[in-house]
Amino acid sequence: MSSNTRLLITRRLPEPVEERAKHEFDVLLNPSDHQYASADLVAACENFEPSALLVTPTERLDEAFIRQLPGSVKIIASYSVGLDHIDLAAAKKRSIVVSHTPGALTSATADIAILCLLGAARHAYRAQQDLRHGQWKRWDPTGYIGVELDGAVLGIVGMGRIGRATAMRAQAFGMEVRYWNRTTLSQAQLKAKGLSATPCERLEELLAVSDAVSLHVPYTPETHHLIDADAINAIKPEALLINTARGSIVDDEAILEGLKRGKLAGIGFDVFDGEPDFNQAYLDAPNAYLLPHIGSATNQARNKMGMMALDSIEAALSGNPIPNTACSS
Ligand code: DGY
Repeated sequence: MSSNTRLLITRRLPEPVEERAKHEFDVLLNPSDHQYASADLVAACENFEPSALLVTPTERLDEAFIRQLPGSVKIIASYSVGLDHIDLAAAKKRSIVVSHTPGALTSATADIAILCLLGAARHAYRAQQDLRHGQWKRWDPTGYIGVELDGAVLGIVGMGRIGRATAMRAQAFGMEVRYWNRTTLSQAQLKAKGLSATPCERLEELLAVSDAVSLHVPYTPETHHLIDADAINAIKPEALLINTARGSIVDDEAILEGLKRGKLAGIGFDVFDGEPDFNQAYLDAPNAYLLPHIGSATNQARNKMGMMALDSIEAALSGNPIPNTACSS
C-alpha cells in the first residue's frame, strides 16, 4: 500500500494493531486517547484528508457528520461488530464503504454473558461488596442464596453468533436452551454446532418459560426498548435478565421497576443506555451485577478486531473484494 494512503484512527488501539497500521499506512493515531468531539473529528479529517477512518463505538457518525466528511474518505472501518453508531444509509449515499468485525468478539462476549448470568444467579456483587467492606461476619446458612444453572431454562433473544456461543456455554452448565430469532434455525444447523435448542415463535412465549433471558440482538429501531414494561409483565416470575448487546434494547425504568417489585430476581448487564452516563438507579437496585461494557475486552478479541478492520481498509483502498462490509458503496 502506498505510504501516502492516509488512515485516521480515532482511539488508541492495541499495540500490534497500531504497529501494523504504521507499517502499512500514513496513519494519524491518537496516542493520548482523547475523545474526539464530532466537530474536531471533521476538522481533523479536513486537515489530514484520510482515505480511511478507523472508528469505534464511542464516536457517533450520524448523517450530519458523514455529510461533512471530505471526499477523500473511501471507507469507514468500525472497531466493533455493532454498527448502531453509524448512519449506514448516509454512508451509502456518499459511496463510503462501512465495515465491521463479526466473529472477532464472539467468544469474549459469550464468556461475559455467562459471567453476568452467574453474577446475577449467585448475588456475586453483594457478596463481594460485603467481603471487601468488612461485612463478612461468619458463614451464613441462609445468606446469599441464589439459584443453580443446572436444569434451568435459558432463553436466548437473537440466535446469531454470540447468542449461539452463549447457548453452547449454557448447555455445558446443564441449562436447557430456548430461543427467539427472526428466522428459525434448522435442527441440522444447530446440531452441526453441537447445540440443542428449541425455538419459540413469539418473544412473550420465550419470556414466559425462561428462568434466565439473555439478549443478543443488534440495536435497531425495531429492537429499541424490546424489553419494556409489557415484556417484564410477560417474563417468568423471578427470572434473571442478562444484557451484553446494547443498552437501549431495554427500557431502564421497566427493568428497575421489575427488580424493585421482585418480578426480576436479578440482572447482569454489561451495556447501558447512554453509556457511560447510565441510569444511576441501577447502582442501588437489588441484585444488579453490572460491568462497564467489557464484552470484547480480551487480547485475542481486541487484536483480531483491529486486524479485521485493517484488512477491510487495505482491500478497499487497493480495489480488492472487501471483507466484512456492512454497507458497500
Ligand atoms: C461491539 O463490537 O459492538 C462491542 O459492543 C464492542 O465491545
